[in-house]
Amino acid sequence: MRIENKVAIITGATSGIGRASAILFAREGAKIVVVGRRVSEGKKTVDAIHELGGEAVFIKTDVCRAADVQKMVEKTVHNYHKIDILFNNAGILPEETKTPITNLSVEMWERVMEVNLKGVFLSSKFVIPEMIKGGGGSIVNTASTLGIVSRPDRSAYSASKGGVVLLTKAMAMDYASYNIRVNCVCPSFVETEMTRDLVELAEKDEKAWNEILSKIPLGRPGTPEDVAYASLFLASDESKWITGISLILDGGLTAQ
Ligand SMILES: NC(=O)c1ccc[n+]([C@@H]2O[C@H](COP(=O)([O-])OP(=O)(O)OC[C@H]3O[C@@H](n4cnc5c(N)ncnc54)[C@H](O)[C@@H]3O)[C@@H](O)[C@H]2O)c1
Repeated sequence: MRIENKVAIITGATSGIGRASAILFAREGAKIVVVGRRVSEGKKTVDAIHELGGEAVFIKTDVCRAADVQKMVEKTVHNYHKIDILFNNAGILPEETKTPITNLSVEMWERVMEVNLKGVFLSSKFVIPEMIKGGGGSIVNTASTLGIVSRPDRSAYSASKGGVVLLTKAMAMDYASYNIRVNCVCPSFVETEMTRDLVELAEKDEKAWNEILSKIPLGRPGTPEDVAYASLFLASDESKWITGISLILDGGLTAQ
C-alpha cells in the first residue's frame, strides 16, 4: 500500500474528485477524514470506504470558516493523533460568475475567493502546526488549468485558482525546512457535478460535445479517478523530492 497508516484530511470529499480521492487514498491504506458541508453526501463517502474495509470519519466543516476549520483539526488530532496529508480540494464555480467582471457582483467575486482561496489558506494554516509536530507532511491543493491559462467568462474562478498556484509555491518555500511539501494539481475538464452543464451536452447536443472532445488531444474529459491518482502520487512519499509544483492534468489540452 502506498500511504499505509497515514492520516489524510480531504476537503470537498462529499462528491467528485474529493470523493474519488478519499476512496483511493483509503484503498492505499490511509485513514481518511472526509470534510465537507453536506452530511448525507459525506456519509456516502464514509460508507463507501467502510465497505472496502477502510477507515474514515466525516467532519462537517465549511472551509471558509476559521472556527469550523480549527475544530476539524482538533477532532482529527483527537481521533488519529496526527495529520500526514492535507488535500485542499473543496471548490466552487457558480453559474453567476461565468461572466466578464463588469457583470460580476461583488458578492459572487468574494464568495469564489472565500471558498477557493481562503479555504486553502485556512485549512493549511491550522493543519501545518500539527504536521510540524509530526515531523512533516504533504499538502496537495486543487487548482485548475484556469489558474495557469485563461478563457472567456472565468475571471473570478481563474483569479482564485491562479492564487492557489502561487500560494502553493509560497507555502512550499516557507515550510520546506519542516519537511512539509506543498504541491497542486491543475485539472482541466473533469466529469463531476461542477461540470454537469458540459457533461449533459453528450446527450443533448452531440455536435457541441464532439467539438469539446476535438480540442482534447487524448480525446476525452478527465475522470475524478484521473485526478485522484495524480493527487495520491503527490500525497505519498513517492514524490518526496517534489515541492512547489503545479501538475497539469488535461489530456494534452494546454500543450497545444
Ligand atoms: N470538474 C472540473 O472540471 C474541475 C477542473 C479543474 C479544477 N476543479 C476543481 O476540483 C475541485 C473539486 O471539484 P469537483 O469537480 O470534484 O466538483 P464538485 O462540485 O463535485 O466538488 C466540490 C466539493 O466541494 C464542496 N464544497 C464547496 N464549498 C465548500 C465549503 N465552503 N466547505 C466545504 N466543502 C465545500 C462541495 O460540496 C463539493 O462536494 C474544486 O476545487 C474545483 O474547482 C474541477
